[in-house]
Amino acid sequence: MDNRAIGVFDSGLGGLTVVRKLRELLEDENIIYFGDTGRVPYGTKGTDTICRYTGQDEAFLLSKDVKMIIVACGTASSVAKSVTEKLSVPNVSVVQPTAKAAAAATRNGKIGVIGTEATVKSGSFKKALLSENKDLEIFSTACSLFVPLVEAGWVKDDDEVTVKAAERYLLPLKQKGIDTLILGCTHFPIISGIIQRVMGDEVTLISSGEEAAKAAAELLEQRGMLCEGNLGKEEYFVSDDIPSFAKTAEIFLGRSINDSVEKINIEEY
Ligand code: DGL
Repeated sequence: MDNRAIGVFDSGLGGLTVVRKLRELLEDENIIYFGDTGRVPYGTKGTDTICRYTGQDEAFLLSKDVKMIIVACGTASSVAKSVTEKLSVPNVSVVQPTAKAAAAATRNGKIGVIGTEATVKSGSFKKALLSENKDLEIFSTACSLFVPLVEAGWVKDDDEVTVKAAERYLLPLKQKGIDTLILGCTHFPIISGIIQRVMGDEVTLISSGEEAAKAAAELLEQRGMLCEGNLGKEEYFVSDDIPSFAKTAEIFLGRSINDSVEKINIEEY
């Protein structure tokens, strides 16, 4: 048993897709979230920068004495693996569990991967998928504009601009005949309604956020590290002004987190 909080981080709002699923699976766990809203996006930056940011995000969570860290960011999971590997606490990244779920879900062996530029360039999901099954056919596309659209809160299913961007990115992928699509950036499940509509109901969407949450819950259980009788406290930290984060978080989580968000200076870590 371990009553310390689970630490979760992302460049911004995307990691909330992990929080929402974690809450569904483990309602009593305390969660400490860091969204690096002052430095988002990560996915258009270079390896050194993404590694430095990841190290600082993890150092901040460790300063809060978390029992586990979930790298709730496809970009940090793909590019800064060497940083996370050095952690002294158990950790979960999004790539492996998501690839495993997608390989199990496909029926025709054709899988699409969408993520940030840095994630697609790293080939991380492709490698992980081929290690699950070397016969899979994989088609990857970077959808960088989805990140600022989500951060701007343009997430409603009928948002004209986000629908247009989705059509432009996704229709070529649909033509490849994929039956499974990995949402390899944790921001993307926030607009899964739009993505599903463009891809059609016959394509199964695999959320990297949800798969990471499931993997984290399994790991805590295996190691006997679940909490006992905590009451599901949540603390949110961001590196830029709070209102826009809190507003979109409320649309996605369906509840207000206004009173539990604090701004920090991440450069101090
Ligand atoms: N949510 C992130 C990811 O999963 C990062 C998006 C970004 O900051 O570019 O890749």
